[in-house]
Amino acid sequence: MGSTGAGKTTLINLLMRFYEVNGGSILLDGRDTRSLSRADLRSNFGMVLQDTWLFDGTVAENIAYSKPDAAREEIIAAAKAARADFFVRTMPHGYDTMLSNDTENISVGQRQLLTIARVFLCNPALLILDEATSSVDTRTEMEIGKAMRPL
Ligand SMILES: Nc1ncnc2c1ncn2[C@@H]1O[C@H](COP(=O)(O)OP(=O)(O)OP(=O)(O)O)[C@@H](O)[C@H]1O
Ligand SMILES: [Mg+2]
Repeated sequence: MGSTGAGKTTLINLLMRFYEVNGGSILLDGRDTRSLSRADLRSNFGMVLQDTWLFDGTVAENIAYSKPDAAREEIIAAAKAARADFFVRTMPHGYDTMLSNDTENISVGQRQLLTIARVFLCNPALLILDEATSSVDTRTEMEIGKAMRPL
């Protein structure tokens, strides 16, 4: 959290090594993040950003991006935690509905809920939320906030 221009997005880019640190260092549990592979580093984090992305696949596959071997029940539990289950059930084929990144069959806020469901499913050590609920309504935002407390 921080005021506009404070450096939130910059900090995320540095943490995730989208930019390399060229002065000082960032330590994760005492280890310089540059000494870890990008894959190892990023496996510690779950991210929900303002910009969401979906890939060509079903709703269930998109949620399970963070855990490809997840059972259907786990995927549904994550979707429920993220308040996404109710709208997924209204889609023509429910969790088997095909999505793609340029799909128009779901709204921006619904995309954000699906990316939040991904995070619930992988239960990461560190959670980055940068305007994670900027496109959902206030009531859903409050519900997600409550659901995120145990997470
Ligand atoms: N690649 C860059 N080169 C130069 N300056 C940059 C670059 N990226 C960000 N900045 C500057 O760094 C400051 C922090 O930007 P950043 O995007 O991290 O803010 P933020 O906290 O995410 O803001 P917002 O809440 O508006 O998203 C701003 O003054 C911005 O103009
Ligand atoms: Mg920002």
